[in-house]
Amino acid sequence: MSDILPTILQEIACAEAKAPPCGLVVFGASGDLVRRKLLASVFELFKKGLLNENFYFLGCARSPFSDEQFRQDASSAICESSADIPPDLLNSLLEKIYYITGDYDDDSFYKSIAARMTRLDAKHNVSGSRVFYLAVPPVLYETIVKGLDTAGLSCIGRPECEMVRLVVEKPFGRDYQSAAELNQTLQSHFSERQIYRIDHYLGKETVQNILMFRFANAIFEPIWNRNFIDHIQITIAESVGVEHRGGYYDKSGALRDMFQNHLLGMLALVAMEPPVSFEADHVRDEKVKLLHCIRPLSEKSAETNFVRGQYTAGLIDKFMVPGYRQETKVDSNSTTETFVAAKLFVDNWRWQDVPFYLRTGKRLSAKNTEIAITFKKVPHSMFKSAGLTDLPPNTLVMQIQPQEGISLSFQAKRPGSKVCMGTLRMKFSYAEVFGGKPPEAYERLLLDCMSGDQTLFTRQDEVEVSWRLLAPVLQAWENQSLNLYEYQAGSESFTQADMLIESDGRKWRTLYET
Ligand code: BG6
Repeated sequence: MSDILPTILQEIACAEAKAPPCGLVVFGASGDLVRRKLLASVFELFKKGLLNENFYFLGCARSPFSDEQFRQDASSAICESSADIPPDLLNSLLEKIYYITGDYDDDSFYKSIAARMTRLDAKHNVSGSRVFYLAVPPVLYETIVKGLDTAGLSCIGRPECEMVRLVVEKPFGRDYQSAAELNQTLQSHFSERQIYRIDHYLGKETVQNILMFRFANAIFEPIWNRNFIDHIQITIAESVGVEHRGGYYDKSGALRDMFQNHLLGMLALVAMEPPVSFEADHVRDEKVKLLHCIRPLSEKSAETNFVRGQYTAGLIDKFMVPGYRQETKVDSNSTTETFVAAKLFVDNWRWQDVPFYLRTGKRLSAKNTEIAITFKKVPHSMFKSAGLTDLPPNTLVMQIQPQEGISLSFQAKRPGSKVCMGTLRMKFSYAEVFGGKPPEAYERLLLDCMSGDQTLFTRQDEVEVSWRLLAPVLQAWENQSLNLYEYQAGSESFTQADMLIESDGRKWRTLYET
């Protein structure tokens, strides 16, 4: 295949407003997420001039740090994140960073936070606008939201509550029941308008590009349906294992960790009807409508439409890595899946009978996240006499990571004999056209929640409908009525996962195709 590179013809619109004044209060501030993602994203926003001058960051956690100690830690975390950290800029941001120690169970902690915020609001000229970010394990959510409410910080029921936001990380529940309970708990202290449920995939530039691509071009929408599309594959393949998160992952597994949120979220964006506008509720209404259309599963259909696997030891990048059951904090007899493949149908006019094949797995041979739309084959080949009977279908690939871009494959005449054909690919690569890597998802999400834009955050009904859909699968797995297959770390797939698609006469795309 050869590539044709696009160029930017015209910058049509780049709308990006600076965040309003804001106090960002982060619980779990001494933890991994804050170190690895949040601080670096705050710095990037600051560097790009998107953070308001009237801003402060207040870290809250149990570990006893002074402001100065936390700033030193924040400084090294930010410096580790990028080679381009101008020291003056870093120091200016550090001056806006503070820390407070306390016990989440103790009401007086929230009173101290409130008092500290009053002083910081005055010092940094922040009036009322605040984001409470829960970067803590979900078991602490209830305690913290209650504490915030008791200290009068949630402002629920008061006119200013729209300026006060609560950000919660995934996992959001572990099944329908627990997600519904968690929603109820959060909503008794914060209103839905104040709650920002993070699915960091929605913050990825290339995931948002699904919306631009589909709804800012007139040529795709007319063919975006069962008349022209044969099937859709959505893949999130990772070469990493469970890293240092064995304890969490062993209670979660691939279905809860990746499928319920990231995979279904991408499916909704690819398949939903055009929203009326790019307003949060218009987009989220369409996503939820689409999820409602997914053909309901039963324990029986879960057996035929879902395959799960678990990795054993194997070679990744020429290095031997342990099997899942040998990972730290993982039960040595664990039956937790590290791979899921599924076939789903969307029962509506647009998608009736078009299979959606979804898969995700850890310790696969490569990192690759993509959405591949395979169009129907030509109905008749006029090149039969030259032996070209089965012409390959066009495939449109939205490459989410690591090589962010879009490609379209098509057949074309090759120089040479009269009937000489080849598959070519038109390719747009983010790195080649725009240079460098797209911004970190958390930058987008932090900016949006400070600005009060919920479009890229998951609404209560979306979470509940996706868990409800997966309930029979979870049940079947709990009853052990579905096999758990082994696959070697470093492999691309395994027989039973292949069978899911091959029994329909199709094939998974390889993890290296772009
Ligand atoms: C997280 C999962 O939500 O997404 C992790 O909990 C997974 O298990 C990660 O590794 C993948 O994110 P990304 O952005 O690296 O594709």
